[in-house]
Amino acid sequence: MDEIRKGLENVIALETKIAYIDGMQGILKYRGHDINDLVNLSYDAVSYLLLRGNLPDDKELEVYSDQLKKERAISEDVLNVLTFCNFNIEAMDALRTAISYISHCDPDMDDNSSEANIRKGMRMIASFPTIVAAFYRIKSGQVPLEPDLNMSQGAYFLYMIRGTEATETEAEIIEKDFILSAEHELNPSTFATRLATSTLSDVYSAVIAGLCTLKGPLHGGARMEVMEMLDEVKSPERAGSYVADKIENHDRLMGFGHRVYKTYDPRGLIYKDLAREIADEKGNSIWFDIAESIEKAAFKEFVENKGKTIYPNVDFYSAVVYKYLEIPPRLATAVFAIGRISGWIAHCLEQYSDNRVIRPRAKFVEI
Ligand SMILES: CC(C)(COP(=O)(O)OP(=O)(O)OC[C@H]1O[C@@H](n2cnc3c(N)ncnc32)[C@H](O)[C@@H]1OP(=O)(O)O)[C@@H](O)C(=O)NCCC(=O)NCCS
Repeated sequence: MDEIRKGLENVIALETKIAYIDGMQGILKYRGHDINDLVNLSYDAVSYLLLRGNLPDDKELEVYSDQLKKERAISEDVLNVLTFCNFNIEAMDALRTAISYISHCDPDMDDNSSEANIRKGMRMIASFPTIVAAFYRIKSGQVPLEPDLNMSQGAYFLYMIRGTEATETEAEIIEKDFILSAEHELNPSTFATRLATSTLSDVYSAVIAGLCTLKGPLHGGARMEVMEMLDEVKSPERAGSYVADKIENHDRLMGFGHRVYKTYDPRGLIYKDLAREIADEKGNSIWFDIAESIEKAAFKEFVENKGKTIYPNVDFYSAVVYKYLEIPPRLATAVFAIGRISGWIAHCLEQYSDNRVIRPRAKFVEI
């Protein structure tokens, strides 16, 4: 009863049918499907799987994708909110503010049935890319674009940022990024959404709790920091001294280490292949080469020299992919959220279906 596990390490808080992780073998499954297989599907198929529990057949996928596309647009009011809120804030803050505003206008706001919550979730899945891209364009002095209602989720997001169509490889890679980011069991932001849900608060509030938690540099914020690290290191030759300095100063090396994985993160391995593929397409291997040199230096320091199980995590090679896709670092965590939203919604639904308020205890200590 008095045992405290700081950071709730290895505490089993609940049962879930949504994700399975084997941190020693490096296995990740969404609803029984290995991430290495899921990454070859569309994001829509994977978000359907997360929300509904099974992969859609062709007809179900067509209907679901059409419904999502119809929910892409955001109102003039939301664009105004994004414009008015543009005081030096970051994309994650803008997303949180926009979602809070949008919740007030949702016709299903007072309906907490499972189908109404799926409808609310689908509206967020569909509109997250539109909001993030609109904020980016407003902040960089450009006019937000009218939503395209045909493109896949990945191609759509890149188009809404750039105003030009992405190449086939770019569109495929960002689609895979959304799939790889979609779900990861009780990570801090998903736990936050379940905690909010367990009080029988609404899904929008739960998602906002998730956004606030994803933002931190020890969680989704690490992706942006890795992008900045690649800029700072500048060349593969400087990777060794950069890593050695970090370790000597007892600083965290961003994009490394994980609470659950004590081997390579399976998503990280897929991202590494994607990073190599996009580097080849762009005919420029610099970011990949810097990252691989950092990875080698970190392996030597952490694994060979210190015997620690610290490997690249999901945020390491995803940051390399974002460099090649020219996603600004300040947008990186919000792009992560575009993928993660479907996992959050799945966990809200699961929590509502078998709820007990989440309320741990603290041990009082005398001052
Ligand atoms: C992900 C993370 C928060 C997990 O934290 P955790 O499970 O609480 O692990 P701890 O912070 O207790 O670290 C355990 C040991 O590994 C070390 N360690 C873990 N990650 C490290 C990193 N990225 N760089 C340097 N040392 C690290 C710690 O210093 C600690 O060493 P010690 O036992 O000698 O004190 C942590 O690995 C981290 O901060 N990583 C960098 C941020 C990041 O990439 N986050 C994205 C996660 S997907």
